[in-house]
Amino acid sequence: MALLDIHVLGSPILRRETELVTQVTPELRRLADQMFETMAAAKGVGLAAPQVGRSERLCVIEVEERRLALFNPEIVHREGAVRWEEGCLSIPEVFADVDRAGLVRVRALDLEGNPFEVEGTELLGVALQHEVDHLHGKLFLDRLSLLKRRSALKAWDRERDKYPEGLRVLPVTDVREGSSATSAAAPADD
Ligand code: NI
Repeated sequence: MALLDIHVLGSPILRRETELVTQVTPELRRLADQMFETMAAAKGVGLAAPQVGRSERLCVIEVEERRLALFNPEIVHREGAVRWEEGCLSIPEVFADVDRAGLVRVRALDLEGNPFEVEGTELLGVALQHEVDHLHGKLFLDRLSLLKRRSALKAWDRERDKYPEGLRVLPVTDVREGSSATSAAAPADD
């Protein structure tokens, strides 16, 4: 399966609001599958549609054993607070501590188009909040204090020239560990 190119900071699509998915079509299931593959190749734990140049409200997350495709995800509950070091596949090599809710509950549609809820703390909770932000044009940099944002942008200045077209093209790799789990969990196309 072809990996998708990842849009990096500066690409306008990262700042756009996404569009509600009205139907989870086979095409969108294929997109979710490609996003899982791309995320794994880039060694990320989450990836949102705008990061691969798409406008659908869709993100994927893989934290520990949990693989989640979330269409139209919405945070319906948050509590507590946590400070977590975050990075982003669209801002490679830049990391910063971000203040987030300690626990969130998210409502979304799954790959079959059925509603479900997922609750997360720690890395899963942070990933859910980070990806939902992406779907509303928001990046973790926006959640930093002015000072921390400045130093993050300085770090990015040293990286951005690696992505002249605003795209991060992943090298094609060998079959990875866990790829059998990937295909087992992937839905059959209609
Ligand atoms: Ni991100």
